[in-house]
This record gives sequence, structure tokens and C-alpha cells, in this order.
Amino acid sequence: MATTDVAMNREAFKTLVKNTLERRLFYIPSYKIYGGVAGFYDYGPWGCQVETNVLNLWRQHFVMEEDMWEIRCPCVTPEVVLKASGHVDKFTDLMVKDLKLGSCFRADHLLKDFLTKALEDDARLVAERAAAPQAVVPDRKSKKNVAEPLTPEQKLRMQSDLAGLDEFSGPELGEKIKAYSIKAPESGNDLSDPYPFNLMFSTQIGPTGTLHGYMRPETAQGIFVNFRDLYYESGNKLPFAAAQIGSAYRNEIAPRQGPMRVREFTMAEIEHFVNPDDKSHPKFKSVENLVVYLFPRAEQMALRDHVEMRIGDAVAQGIVDNETLGYFIARTYLFLTKLGIDKKRLRFRQHLANEMAHYAQDCWDAEIECSYGWFECVGCADRSAYDLKAHTAKSGQELTAYESFAEPKDVVQLTIVPNKKVLGKEFRRDQKILSESLEAMNREEALALKAKLEEKEKATYKVCSTGQEFTLTKEMVAIEEKVVKTHGRNFTPSVIEPSFGIGRIMYCLYEHCFYLRPAVPGEQVSSVFRFPPIVAPIKCTVFPLMQREVLNVKSKAMSNGLTRAGVSNKLDITGRSIGKRYARTDEVGIPFAITVDFDEGVTVRERDSKQQVRIPDAEVVDVVRDLSNGTVVWEDVAAKYKLVTVAEIEAEL
Ligand code: ATP
Ligand code: GLY
Repeated sequence: MATTDVAMNREAFKTLVKNTLERRLFYIPSYKIYGGVAGFYDYGPWGCQVETNVLNLWRQHFVMEEDMWEIRCPCVTPEVVLKASGHVDKFTDLMVKDLKLGSCFRADHLLKDFLTKALEDDARLVAERAAAPQAVVPDRKSKKNVAEPLTPEQKLRMQSDLAGLDEFSGPELGEKIKAYSIKAPESGNDLSDPYPFNLMFSTQIGPTGTLHGYMRPETAQGIFVNFRDLYYESGNKLPFAAAQIGSAYRNEIAPRQGPMRVREFTMAEIEHFVNPDDKSHPKFKSVENLVVYLFPRAEQMALRDHVEMRIGDAVAQGIVDNETLGYFIARTYLFLTKLGIDKKRLRFRQHLANEMAHYAQDCWDAEIECSYGWFECVGCADRSAYDLKAHTAKSGQELTAYESFAEPKDVVQLTIVPNKKVLGKEFRRDQKILSESLEAMNREEALALKAKLEEKEKATYKVCSTGQEFTLTKEMVAIEEKVVKTHGRNFTPSVIEPSFGIGRIMYCLYEHCFYLRPAVPGEQVSSVFRFPPIVAPIKCTVFPLMQREVLNVKSKAMSNGLTRAGVSNKLDITGRSIGKRYARTDEVGIPFAITVDFDEGVTVRERDSKQQVRIPDAEVVDVVRDLSNGTVVWEDVAAKYKLVTVAEIEAEL
């Protein structure tokens, strides 16, 4: 990983970060004393604090700055809702089974792992041969198999299978698994053909067992079912947006990617409702000059890399479908980089045509690179009018918006009036079903029938639902097209949805902020999280320079003052050496440390530079509060106050 500060390979880096996170209780594998259950993690004290800070920033950045409605709905969802949304029938991943042991795997993940490894091994082999060509001349007499680099055709096929992985149907995936002779990991046994597995946890609501439900796999549906009331509360105006933060549940087939793929996680989702004919965004200008890494469909299919592009250009060139989608891509970028995600390891990847969910019109995933590779952490999708239409159809409740035209418009209106008296006389009991069927004709059918009746006086008409045929005459139905003045129209809004997986973002943040501080004489190598103050679990530690009652009392007062000012802090009067205390707070990423000594004022130390300044007692709370909020940066503080040298610090001790 060239971009980490640690010169080591991915696996070693991953293990080092994991060990730190688990040792310092950012995460605890859930139910650990019973052996744990894959895909579940507890957040320990520091993890909880970081999540709270990430969510606070999310609320500030989206709910407040974009003026959204926040709502909260239950996790337990009755079946009818998820039937309407398509999740009961379609929320599946393709699974394969070890034919002997019965263990399950996600088919696309097996293929991806196989191809990634094969290509990496090949690259290594080619590099080794280039470095020492004589070492690999095969010994003709020996029977030993010498690994051969891939042929250009083999390599190209693997690269294009990898790039198009998300496009494959079940049978196609099955064919690829056979073609590459992929076997079950570890056992090496044969695998079944891929088949769909629904990821929802099912449950029953109430004791009778008659009301079936699911744990929600996303929070979005709660917003859609409340659309009408939220629209009303918005003054019946579009666009408006609603947001929801809460738990979501997915019974992942084989969660082997640590905190990146879990079975219960926090989502933060936004549904921004717009007029489908006008997806411009009033604040688009404010972000159009932002340059981000985009990975459009065309680049992926041509096996090229992501490209750097102005958001304004991406929308103008039609690479990103519309301004609103572009606006949210930009806002997502700003949010993630403000948190501390490295902008060089953040890109937006467009979904391939078949990869898009059944409802989506255009979709871009914010992918963050970590030791698990490039990983989707936020999905930004234009879901069109799919969800509102689906819930309208299932519930029978109109989930539409009304648009008044600036000027009344002439609209061609089709009227179909069956003459019930004549129809009744001729067809008796069938009059009703025939009239209803005639009224339900679409424009094309109606105009074709009208033409036939005018030309031939008679026409045969078939009622589709029953298959009955009737011979109609001109008197039996009046079909007309009239131009009428209309003042507005009802329509189903489109929705743009940025959907954030908070746990994945947090894990990537941990990796991007982690570094090893080289040993200095007398100290060991130590690990540090370089969190921006705004997300650091707590902002400050306070400790007395040494174990003296007078210093303890002043430290306690200082800590209370910080708490009153809303600066989270921890008092450490353990009496451990100063160096050890710093190492412990650096290891959890606390940005500032206050040391109380016998003089007037205190020293404030910044985590990454290890610089210290002396600040008068009366000013210190305000300074640390401003540093924590990010309204002041350390460089300003270091310039304003007296820097304390190492010699001065040592003289104190
Ligand atoms: P993947 O392809 O990785 O399974 P997805 O495409 O199913 O993810 P979405 O349905 O778009 O994901 O979900 C929106 C967001 O929810 C994702 O961007 C991700 O951050 C988060 N998410 C989805 N599944 C999980 C999971 N199992 N664990 C943690 N976060 C998840
Ligand atoms: N601020 C005191 C020290 O670092 O030793």
C-alpha cells in the first residue's frame, strides 16, 4: 500500500490495525465469550464515541445544511412493505455451496478473489523474472512444474471478467466458476451452481404467527411510506428531502471482511424527491468546480483507471446523469474528506448497466480504498419513481405530487363514454364488464376502435380479462379527443438517494488515520490515529505532571471546566510516566493533552507534531474548545503562544 505510512504489505497492515482497534476496544467481536458469531461487532467506548461524532457531522453536513426532514421508523417491517418494494422477491445474492461440506459462499466474491489473486501472482512472477531471468530457466530433466506467466489472452480475459463481474447473471457466474476450475476455499471440494439467497432476516410480528415481517435491509422504505405526510409538511413543494439514521440488517452469506461486511449496521440515508422533468439543483454552482476521482462505466469496461474530473464537466458531458446526482456526489466527497478520509483513496464508481438495482436510473458508489481493496461505502442512486409507484400500486394510496403550470396549458384529453343503455339492451349482464373495459382502453386502442367504427360501422371488441368478444356499433361508445385548458398535473416524483454505511466509513477512517511513530531513544514504536479533532473519540486528556494533591485538584478543575464548555475529556491521574500516558492517548487518537504543573498556566500538546505550548489558565478552555470544533487550527495556536522546548519540559520533571 504505497499510500499508507507503513511500509508493509496489506495483510500485515490490516492485522496491525485490527489488533489496535480490538485491544483498545474500538470493536469487540460480539458474544466473544461464547465464541462469537460472524458478522456482528460490539462498539466499545472509543468506537461509540467515534460513531456519535461521525453521525453528528453527518447531521450537520446534510440534515442541517441541506434543510432536510429527519425521521425515524421501526426496524421491524411488515411483509407487505418489502413485498411492494421488491425486496421479498429480489433482495438476493448468488450463493454456491461446497458440495461435500455444505458451507456457503457468495459466488461473485469467490470469482473476484480467484481473479484478483491470479493477476497479483502473475504480476509478481513477471517482476521476479524481469529481475532475475536466469533463475527461472526450467531444468529440462527435472519434473518440477515451473510456474508460467499468463498469456496475453489469458490475462486480458481475467481482467475483463474482473471488470465486468457485477454484470454476470447466475448461469454466467456458474460457467465462469467451472471454466476457471474454482473450488471451495480450504476444502478444495466441488461447488454447486449459483442460486439466489434472500438476505433479509425474517421474523413474526405478534404471537399468532399470522403477521409476517422482516428486519429492514435499508431505512429508505420508511421514508417512502411516509411520503404523503412529509410532502404536505413541506408545503406541497418539491424538491424536498428526508433523512433517516438507524440500524439495517442483512443476513450476509459469508461475512469474512471484518467490520466492512456485517449483518447488522448503521445506515444514514437521504431520499431527495424531485420533479422527474427537472433534476437541476439550486446549489449545483457551489460544487461544480470540485475535482474528484470518477470511475465511469466506459473506463471500467475498457480496463482503464479512474479519472480526475470536475463535477461540473461530468454533468455537462452527461457522464453523471443530472445536477442533483452530481450535487450529492460532491457533498458526499466533502463530507468524507472532512471526516479524514484520504481524498487519494476515494473515488466514485458508476454502476455497470446490469449491476444497477432493478429500480435505478444511474448509480455511483463512493468507494474507499483500504486493506480490503476498493470498497463501496456510500451508494448514490437515482431511483427514479420506482418506489413511490410501487407503494401506490400496493397500498392504493396516491403517492404523487402536484405541479401548477405557470400558464394554463392546452392538453389533448381523451374521453371514452360507453352508452350503457344501448349496451345493456344488447349485452344484458355483460354490460358492466364491457363498459369498464372500454373505459380502461389506452389512447392507441381507443383511437383504433374509433377509426374502425367510423369506417365499417361495426367492430369486434375483446375484453382481455375474460376473453369474451363483442360486436360493437357506433352508438355503443363515444370516443373523442378534445383540447382542454389545464392548470397543473399530478405526477410521481423521482428520488435521488445517497445511502451511507456508517460502519464501513468508520473502518476506512481508522485505516486512513493510522500510522506508526518511529521509536525515539527510550521509547518504543507506537501507533497513532491521526483523527481530525472533530471525529476524535474525545478531544483532550488532562493530567497532573506528577502525583501531588495540589496538581490533582487543579487538573480536576480544568477537566470540569472543559466538560462545562462541551469539550469531551478524560482525567488521567494514574501516575504512569508522562511518555506512557501520551502513548496511550495517541493510540486512541485523542488530539490534545493538557499537563498541569506547578507554574501558572498549563502546557497543551498536539498529538501529531508533539509540539507543546504554554497557555494561561484563564484561556485554555476556550483554546481547546476552538481547536476541537475545528474553528482554530494548531498552527495558529502554536504561532500565538509560547512553544515549550523538550529541554524546558525535562527541567520540570
Ligand atoms: P455490497 O455490494 O458490498 O454487498 P450493496 O451494494 O448491497 O453492498 P447497498 O445496498 O448499496 O450496498 O447499501 C448501501 C450502503 O450500506 C453501502 O454503501 C454500504 O456502506 C452499506 N452496507 C451494505 N451492506 C453492508 C454490510 N453487510 N455491512 C456493512 N455495511 C453495509
Ligand atoms: N507537558 C509536560 C510534558 O510533556 O512532559
